[in-house]
Amino acid sequence: MSALIIDGNSVAQRLQTQIALEVEQFKQKQGYPPGLGVVLAGDNPAAAQYVRMKSRACNNVGMTSVTRLMTAASSQQEVESAVAELNANPSVHGILVQLPLPPGIDEEPVLRLVSLDKDVDGFHPINIGMLGMKGREPLFTPATPTGCMVLLNEAGAQLEGANAVVIGRSNIVGLPVALMLMKANATVTVCHSRTRNIPDIVRQADIVIAAIGRPNYVKGDWLKPGAIVIDVGTNKIDDPADPRGYRFIGDVEFESAVNVAGAISKVPGGVGPMTITMLLTNTLKAAWRIAGR
Ligand code: GUN
Repeated sequence: MSALIIDGNSVAQRLQTQIALEVEQFKQKQGYPPGLGVVLAGDNPAAAQYVRMKSRACNNVGMTSVTRLMTAASSQQEVESAVAELNANPSVHGILVQLPLPPGIDEEPVLRLVSLDKDVDGFHPINIGMLGMKGREPLFTPATPTGCMVLLNEAGAQLEGANAVVIGRSNIVGLPVALMLMKANATVTVCHSRTRNIPDIVRQADIVIAAIGRPNYVKGDWLKPGAIVIDVGTNKIDDPADPRGYRFIGDVEFESAVNVAGAISKVPGGVGPMTITMLLTNTLKAAWRIAGR
């Protein structure tokens, strides 16, 4: 039996059509568009490409975006000043500091400086703390983990009491998605580089979130039949058959997993477009919150 393919492109497109309508309503009422401000430091081509995609998506739904470009040689002070400027800019309602920051920049004080009202990436320590605490709700949740939760919902996943296994414990995906699954009353196990016997742990999972950054890491015979699998990996591999000479593959070996899983997201076309969509959702929410004060 072949799994249901969770199509992130079509979910993202549907949500972005709705966001565009709501942006129009926002503009009619307020007389200005919601705006995103991005800090991009360093010369990582993948990060620059992500930022271009985020800016384009903003423009497509009628929002503005400004990017503060900084070199890899920028100082801590310069990066923090860029955030402070965006905090003070009334046309900017959401701020995204593209991670990772260049070596030598301490990420923590930079993220702490982002105004809570504009923390559309949800990485301010207060928002992450609220996400982790019972009975508290953060103002914003990080984009990629939120996209994973929306895709689980689209696949009809029952999270209450489910065994969820998260592979990877990064600050950007693994940790926050584990917290979100726990808030949704799943029983959550987080596997990482020091975990013993990951395949046996994955075999218990009703839900698998693969976010470890290793191409084709999770094999089909690790999966419980019917498991719902969300593949967060975007691993660039050489491919002479591709006109670009490379392509992106996920953390899950799709060809074997698709025969065992109940539902599975693809790479590309799964979580990626959802990340951008959740950022747009958060920026619109931030603009309404700021306008309502
Ligand atoms: N780098 C990789 N993914 C992300 C993300 O979702 N947000 C930010 N700020 N940086 C990233």
